[in-house]
Amino acid sequence: MLVLSGSSSKNFSFALSKELNAKYLCAEVKRFPDDECYVRIPKFDDKKVILVQNAYPDAKIVELLLLLDALKEFELEKLILVVPYMGYARQDKKFNEGEAISARAIAKAIGNCDFIVTVDIHNPEALKFFSIPFKNTTAIKLLGSCVKNFDIDIAIAPDDGALEKAKLLGKEINCKWTYLEKKRIDGTSVSIKQKKLDVKQKNVVIVDDIISTGGTIVATAELLRKNGAKKVLACCVHGLFAKNAIEKLEKWCDDIISTDTIENEKTRVSAAPAVVDCIRKLV
Ligand code: R5P
Repeated sequence: MLVLSGSSSKNFSFALSKELNAKYLCAEVKRFPDDECYVRIPKFDDKKVILVQNAYPDAKIVELLLLLDALKEFELEKLILVVPYMGYARQDKKFNEGEAISARAIAKAIGNCDFIVTVDIHNPEALKFFSIPFKNTTAIKLLGSCVKNFDIDIAIAPDDGALEKAKLLGKEINCKWTYLEKKRIDGTSVSIKQKKLDVKQKNVVIVDDIISTGGTIVATAELLRKNGAKKVLACCVHGLFAKNAIEKLEKWCDDIISTDTIENEKTRVSAAPAVVDCIRKLV
């Protein structure tokens, strides 16, 4: 069995190959002067391949399509695609007339494999657009190994969509959990509704699947600080950290933790073990 890594999530891929006791190979990926992508897969003999590549940002999606195309030249028994971070999963329907259903467009383009595995996809409903079998797993429990060092009293989800994640983490580190009510104002700002909160002198962790602009976490952390929270930690599976998100977050949070689905300066934990059991069942 071979774990083949694209240019995203190389640490994730390597960790996965170790967990599975599989061979590890990196595809050759280059950019032409006009920025088009070139990929080449070095020769290998394995018949079962696990390709790991993110569908984010856009350039990595094109790379993924080229990798899938290059793999057609190999006679494989099984090709499992692991997408640690599935981009475009937030638009699985039309909110306004004339919009693209982005999750559907990406799923249709990717379809060329036997099975797809995602990690904490924003909306599992987006997977219905794939015509191949799929499984979504979660890396939230894995964040627990790092978060537990902060002596946390309560895990807080910024909205009810993240409540299950706060609950999973709370159970893992043995603390309480709750959620707040978020209203999105625009692409970068949200308002978090005040709720009866007992966080005075408590250490709290804010849990979300994605941190993008940081707007959600900043608004939540601000509210928690106003309510007297002692330590405020932010954790997520996918740290996109768009633009100056980290700078904004560091004003309000004592620490920020993400997994390696997207490798960044806040990666503290590998999400690779989250997909191991699922892959073992498939190969
Ligand atoms: C949305 O519902 C997601 O779970 C995240 O809360 C959101 O993507 C975070 O975005 P931002 O960091 O830009 O507020």
